[in-house]
Amino acid sequence: MKIIKAKTYKDMSRKAANIISAQVIMKPNCVLGLATGSTPIGLYEQLIDWYQKGDIDFSEVTTINLDEYRGLSGDNPQSYRYFMDEHFFKHINIRPENINVPDGTNLDVQAECTRYDHLIMDKGGIDLQLLGIGNNGHIGFNEPDSAFELGTHCIDLLESTIEANARFFENEDEVPRQAYTMGIKTIMQAHKVLMIANGKNKAAILKEAFLGPVTPRVPASILQMHPDFTLIGDEEAMSEMNL
Ligand code: PGA
Repeated sequence: MKIIKAKTYKDMSRKAANIISAQVIMKPNCVLGLATGSTPIGLYEQLIDWYQKGDIDFSEVTTINLDEYRGLSGDNPQSYRYFMDEHFFKHINIRPENINVPDGTNLDVQAECTRYDHLIMDKGGIDLQLLGIGNNGHIGFNEPDSAFELGTHCIDLLESTIEANARFFENEDEVPRQAYTMGIKTIMQAHKVLMIANGKNKAAILKEAFLGPVTPRVPASILQMHPDFTLIGDEEAMSEMNL
């Protein structure tokens, strides 16, 4: 486990973008596992900037996203596919056929999860998986007490998540109740894992996840066992790590 302390959100984003950029330069046809959320927005902006300057080329890259709401199509502004298009894909030269996000419109859980796991295998696995971390230690939609040995699966959203998301929808009934997510087994099989975290509200969970015991109660803690795991946090997020 490598732990890198960044000064600010911008510094964290830049350091993480450098690692992704190095991956793409070293292996232009690499498979990147990507994440949504507020944390990676600055990293995607940095990569877009380097792309526009001609420093990085995504034409041979394949991307595989962590998760998607079951029931939402990619043109729904609340879908993770839409988020990725807006914040990253439409600004770079990735080929549309090389973009992969679980298909929220496929309501057949077994078929969709199997399709996604086979896709990851067919691509030869994920070279570099990017992750954020939830305040409760979740990675992707793997909430506390998720089994470590699962591949892609469908989860029921926590009531607290449904309530928190309701503000983005016309009414609470429209909020998806389920999501597809890569499992922890899938994440652990990535060759490299890169986690980014910023802000004071992540300080306690980083300490618990990476200085505490490995336990399903804190899903991210399993990353302590990954052979090539890097955590980059800004000063606030690292403030309880005593490094
Ligand atoms: P955030 O979400 O980047 O919006 O903090 C992280 C996560 O829940 O994985």
